[in-house]
Amino acid sequence: MKPPATLSEAEAAAELARLAAEIIRHDRLYHTQDAPEITDADYDALIRRNREIEALFPDLVRADSPSRRVGAAVAEGFTKARHGVPMLSLDNAFGPEDFAEFCRRIRRFLGLGEERLAFVGEPKIDGLSINLLYEEGRFLRGATRGDGMEGEDVTANLKTLASLPLRLKGAAPGRIEIRGEVFVEKAAFLAFNEAEVAAGRRSFANPRNFAAGSLRQLDHRITAQRPLKLFAYAMGAATEAPAATHWEWLERLQAWGFAVNPLSERLADEHAAAAFQAGIAARRADLAYDIDGVVYKLDRLDWQARLGFVGRAPRWAIAWKFPAEQATTKLLRIEIQVGRTGALTPRAVMEPVNVGGVVVQHATLHNEDEIARKDVREGDTVVLQRAGDVIPQIVAAVPEARPADSRPYSFPVTCPACGSHAVRPEGEVVRRCTGGLICPAQAVERLRHFVARNTMDIDGLGEERILQLQAAGLLQTPADIFRLPEHAPVIAALEGWGETSAANLMRAIGARVAPPLDRFIFALGIRRIGEANAKLLARHYHALETWRERMLAARIIGSEAREELGSIQGIGPTIATELVDFFDEPRNLAALDDLSRYVTPVPVSLAEAGDSPFAGKVLVFTGSLETMTRQEAEARAEALGAKVTKSVSKKTDFVVVGADAGSKAAKAAELGVIVLSEAEWRLKAGFG
Ligand code: IVH
Repeated sequence: MKPPATLSEAEAAAELARLAAEIIRHDRLYHTQDAPEITDADYDALIRRNREIEALFPDLVRADSPSRRVGAAVAEGFTKARHGVPMLSLDNAFGPEDFAEFCRRIRRFLGLGEERLAFVGEPKIDGLSINLLYEEGRFLRGATRGDGMEGEDVTANLKTLASLPLRLKGAAPGRIEIRGEVFVEKAAFLAFNEAEVAAGRRSFANPRNFAAGSLRQLDHRITAQRPLKLFAYAMGAATEAPAATHWEWLERLQAWGFAVNPLSERLADEHAAAAFQAGIAARRADLAYDIDGVVYKLDRLDWQARLGFVGRAPRWAIAWKFPAEQATTKLLRIEIQVGRTGALTPRAVMEPVNVGGVVVQHATLHNEDEIARKDVREGDTVVLQRAGDVIPQIVAAVPEARPADSRPYSFPVTCPACGSHAVRPEGEVVRRCTGGLICPAQAVERLRHFVARNTMDIDGLGEERILQLQAAGLLQTPADIFRLPEHAPVIAALEGWGETSAANLMRAIGARVAPPLDRFIFALGIRRIGEANAKLLARHYHALETWRERMLAARIIGSEAREELGSIQGIGPTIATELVDFFDEPRNLAALDDLSRYVTPVPVSLAEAGDSPFAGKVLVFTGSLETMTRQEAEARAEALGAKVTKSVSKKTDFVVVGADAGSKAAKAAELGVIVLSEAEWRLKAGFG
């Protein structure tokens, strides 16, 4: 990367544009999706680069520059809540020098001489800050920090926290904002993540993302199941000042019923800070929660008020951060885990090493791009880092220590669990196994989907029973379900079964051997083929045999079958690719054929809708209609048994032409296809 000073103006402009877009993307991943892709240190490097270039080229500062934004905007789905006074952030100190400078600045600003500066030191937990509004002692509303001015109203979710008092004990001001940190303890975080990974779901990168993701649930019942805790530590707007010093204020918070970090301490003067910092650092590894430093707040609230804020940070408080904890170790191998949805996730297996008091053996490598970007290889010596993150990150490989025969890591293109092709759709970062029907890593999830109410609707096969039958060696693929009757006596003898429940299950299975084709297609669990798309396919291809045959033919790009697939209204290129990928895997085809030995899906008949003149006909709509939207017209035509496609061909029966119709109308005329005006279409369709 070029040093900023050597950039031309054009290069600088291009890079600022790129940085703005990239930082916005990472902000969104971090704040809105709670799923960051890069480490905090890499993010900071992007911000720093942006700032350096902007300092040299002030005329190029963009309206959307990251330097003009604070934190995250409000996510969709939550009501906004404006804070009584802004929620700000803190400046950082990285050593005693920075802290001394912070104290000098306070003295200068207040014009102090030799007076003692008393502070309160509080461990800085990496969680999510929140603002709690109490009126007449009752909890009224709670919000996230958001952009500092307004956050998301997460009142219902906050009420599920055991450590949040719904009523303040004793006398309280008429109206007061209380601020604190919502966080999760390390053990609870790791246990939760482990269970998520086992279930094939996304895990959280760090406790802070966990806290944020848990609190920002639209369904507060989910928040209630998350082990969130709260420490209170600051005040926002208040109708009366309830204390003279920060220390008294913390005592008041405790009296009201809040948890205050028990390691917080009043320091008689600024010289006590370094020892306090060292003391907390020494206990860091043993704490139940992760901290990344200590916050020092000037104790006297009248001084705090006089000092006020600069930019987004108060002059009276600072976060003295711990240095990032690093260690080097050897990367033994890169392991690929297959989740329940088929996602291939790389994980580094290393020689165990102690990083800041925690023995580490595994680290996530996120995805294949991340491995390539860092050029991490098996056999490398790597630098590991825990910077406020419980899960360690691989910072970099040490190239000097690289074995001579080392090769760049090549990400597998087949699934390590079942051997099927693993594909990575364009524009996505995750590679996925396509062997949905036969992959053992995905089996439970697939089977659950296959028997669900809105798919094959087979009663009596919950997750527990699926696991039990799987362990007994009786159930792996969907076709196995239909072979269960052959093992009825064995099943009846299994723990928790008996004759009756076994017989009930066999009956339920027997009742589902002729499902509607659309449900059957949906039940296969092909990615992106949900209920609606399965209907489109069933309606278009009518019968399983036709569908199977056309999908196989569609594997060839440019083939007539591929074009036909693409011409189905509602089936875009991404969906077409997923279908083709599924049929491209011979194991899926084998599983499907195996299934067809037991199941005969009922073809969808086009004339189902009665004797409309459009039943079984191919229709194209073009131009804008006046009396209904295109979407509505298409839905209505389909309800009458018509097939709606996007382009006009010899197979088209009718073209319905709206206002300003273009080339399609011309093409219809050319091919001699019947052209209908909107009024004619309405008349013929029977809606006047
Ligand atoms: S005081 C103006 N106290 O650190 C005062 N913040 O970098 C701002 N944090 O957004 C907050 N522990 O999420 C304060 N004892 C503590 C804290 C703390 C953690 C977090 C908080 C804040 C961020 C600022």
